[in-house]
Amino acid sequence: MSETVAFPQDRTCPYHPPTAYDPLRGGRPLSRVTLFDGRSVWVVTGHAEARALLSDGRLSADRSNEAFPSPTKRFKGLQNRRTALLGVDDPEHNTQRRMLIPSFTLKRTAALRPAIQETVDRLIDAMVARGPSAELVNDFALPVPSMVICALLGVPYRDHEFFEGASRRLLRGPELSDVEAARDQINGYLADLIERKRTDPGEGLLDELVATRLETGETDVEELVALAAILLVAGHETTANMISLGTFTLLSHPEQLAELRADPALISVAVEELMRFLSIADGMLRVAVEDIEIGGVTIRPDDGVIFSTSVINRDAAVFEQPDALDWHRSARHHVAFGFGVHQCLGQNLARAEMEIALGTLFARLPGLRLAAEPDRIPFRPGDTIQGMIELPVAW
Ligand code: HEM
Repeated sequence: MSETVAFPQDRTCPYHPPTAYDPLRGGRPLSRVTLFDGRSVWVVTGHAEARALLSDGRLSADRSNEAFPSPTKRFKGLQNRRTALLGVDDPEHNTQRRMLIPSFTLKRTAALRPAIQETVDRLIDAMVARGPSAELVNDFALPVPSMVICALLGVPYRDHEFFEGASRRLLRGPELSDVEAARDQINGYLADLIERKRTDPGEGLLDELVATRLETGETDVEELVALAAILLVAGHETTANMISLGTFTLLSHPEQLAELRADPALISVAVEELMRFLSIADGMLRVAVEDIEIGGVTIRPDDGVIFSTSVINRDAAVFEQPDALDWHRSARHHVAFGFGVHQCLGQNLARAEMEIALGTLFARLPGLRLAAEPDRIPFRPGDTIQGMIELPVAW
C-alpha cells in the first residue's frame, strides 16, 4: 500500500502545483487522498477523466448532502448554508443559472470592455502619480475586478472595504466563527441592499433581478441574496488573484514577458495559458450519488470526489511539457474555469478583465519589476484560491 497524500497542501512555488502532489502526477488518473478530518476521498488528476466526470450527472454538487467532502474545517462548518449555483444540482441549478446567463454572454461582456479599460487606466494613473513603487494587490489587482463587479451588479463601490474584507474572511478566516460572521455580514448587507432596490431601483443586474424576478415571485429574497453573494465574492476574489499571481509569474519569466511585450496581440492566448499554468481554483468538489466506473476504478455512492485543477491542467498526455509557460500551445481546453454544467459563469468577464489589466499594466509600465526578493513575497496557503497576499513592485 502506498501512503496517501494529504489534500489540500501549500504550494512551494506560487505558480506550480504543490510538490507534495508529485505522487499524484503522471500515474493513475484517479487516486485516494486524505482530508483534514481523516476522510479518504478520490482525487481526479487525469484530464480526460476530469472532463468526463465533470459532465456526469452521477456526481452531485449538492453541499447539503451529508457525504459532501469538506477540504477544510471552515468549509465543513458552513456546509448547511444555502448556496446558489455552485452548491446545487439541476434542475434548481439550471433555473438559477438561466436567470443570470444573459448578463454574462460574450456580447454583454464585450460591451463592458471600455468601462473596464477606463477603470484600469484610472488605477494605473493613480499608481504612477504616487509611484515609483506600489503594493500591487491593494493598489491594482483587487480594485479592478471589485469595481467591475460592483458596477455590473449595482453594488455601491464605496462599500468595497467592507465586502472585500468580509470575502477575505469568508474564504480564509482563521476560525469558523470568523467565517460564519463574515457570511452573515455579507448576506445581511445584500439583503438590505436588495430591500432598498425595491423602492429605489438603480441600473445593475441586481436591480434588474429585483424588478423582473423578485417582484414577480419567481425568486425570493433568500435566493437572490445567495446569488448576489456568489457573484460578488466569486466576481472579485478569483480575478484579483489571477492578476496578482499573473503579474508575479510574468515578472518571473522574462523571456515570455519580452515576447508578450513585443507582440501585444498575444495577450488573449497568454491569459489562457496563464489560466492553465496557475490553476488558482485548485480543488473542485463533488459527491457521487451512483456507481461510476472510470479510469480503472469504481466510485461508489457517497464517495467524495475532488478535482485538482493544478494537476489536471499539467497532464502531459494533453499538454506537452506541461510545466513550461508557453504562449504557442493551445491551452484553451484547460479546466481552470471548471467544465460541464457548473463551468464558470463569469469566464468571459474574467478574461476581459485579465486581458485589459495585464496588457495595460505591462504596456504602461515598461520598467515594472518586483520590489522584493521573489521568495520573500507572501502567497496564499493551499486551502483557498491561490494568489499573492502582497505584491511589492517598482518601475
Ligand atoms: C479568473 C477568474 C476566475 C476563476 C479562476 C474562476 C473559476 C471558477 C471555477 C473553477 C468554477 C467551477 C467550480 C466547480 O465546478 O466546482 C467557477 C464557477 C463559477 N464562477 Fe468563476 N472563476 C473566475 C471568475 C469569475 C467571475 C468574474 C465571476 C462572476 C462575475 C464568476 C462567477 C462564477 C459562478 C457564479 C460560478 C458557478 C457557476 C455554476 O455553478 O453554474 N467567476 N468559477
